[in-house]
Amino acid sequence: MAAQLAALLRAELGEVEVSHFPDGETYVRVLAEVEGKRVVYVNSLQRGPNEALVETLLTLDALEDLGAQEVHAVVPYMAYARQDERFKPGEAVSVATVAKLFKALGLSSIYTVDMHLHRIRDPSALFGASFRNLTGVRELAKYVKRYHQKSLAKSVIVGPDEEAEQWAKVMAEELGTEYAILEKKRLSATEVKIEAYGAGVKGKVAVIVDDIISTGGTMIEAVKALRQLGCEAVLVACVHPILAGNAYSRLLKLQLLDLVGTDTVLSPISRVPVAPAIAEALGADLGFRPA
Ligand code: R5P
Repeated sequence: MAAQLAALLRAELGEVEVSHFPDGETYVRVLAEVEGKRVVYVNSLQRGPNEALVETLLTLDALEDLGAQEVHAVVPYMAYARQDERFKPGEAVSVATVAKLFKALGLSSIYTVDMHLHRIRDPSALFGASFRNLTGVRELAKYVKRYHQKSLAKSVIVGPDEEAEQWAKVMAEELGTEYAILEKKRLSATEVKIEAYGAGVKGKVAVIVDDIISTGGTMIEAVKALRQLGCEAVLVACVHPILAGNAYSRLLKLQLLDLVGTDTVLSPISRVPVAPAIAEALGADLGFRPA
């Protein structure tokens, strides 16, 4: 993604060496000359969020320390965002802790994509930098338009739960279709129950859109509920395809019309690049000229 952004923004591409000490500690060395420069650092907190977080914090701090004029962080997937409340007594409010760590770095700005901002009203105050929460849903919509044009006439966009309405709405606007929202009850971290009363999907092609597929439980239950209502075919799209454990193989068994995600998280379904959306925002905010 850094290479794509550098190309789009006609910027130099710098490298960072990352390795590990024998005891497991992370070692970071910035190989590019950054003194006096405006630096955009790109790293997603994925495929091992703890490791990626430490790597990101060490690098961002090193960039400041090495005399970069401005340091902008692009974190396409912001991990820990879902733990934004003390749901049970004694729990850590993880996103607040992660935000404090970013804030301590005094960054110029932070760009992320479809962060789970359900209860956080002012992320800039929390993260201590100008904060942009971009969306990858328009990029997903472009993909659906391009590869599933024929299905669009009889499609309905579906959000698998109330929180997904924001993404279903954007997708429906982009594709010029209707959208429906299902009702989800979370039973545990891996189990959900979904109901789809009157979703108006009979004979239609449902395009389910959500921010994250983690265990796949939400999507699997949503597909089952839609099929019970007579849905003709189902396409599943998400921004962050985390696909934890055996989620990918479980989803493949559903015989979907398509299963697609963006590249904020690397996975076998990360076919939609979000760099164009990020480059557009960076270009507008920082005065670069995207190619
Ligand atoms: C929850 O609010 C999110 O928007 C996703 O629906 C959820 O993270 C998906 O998780 P899973 O794939 O484990 O059901």
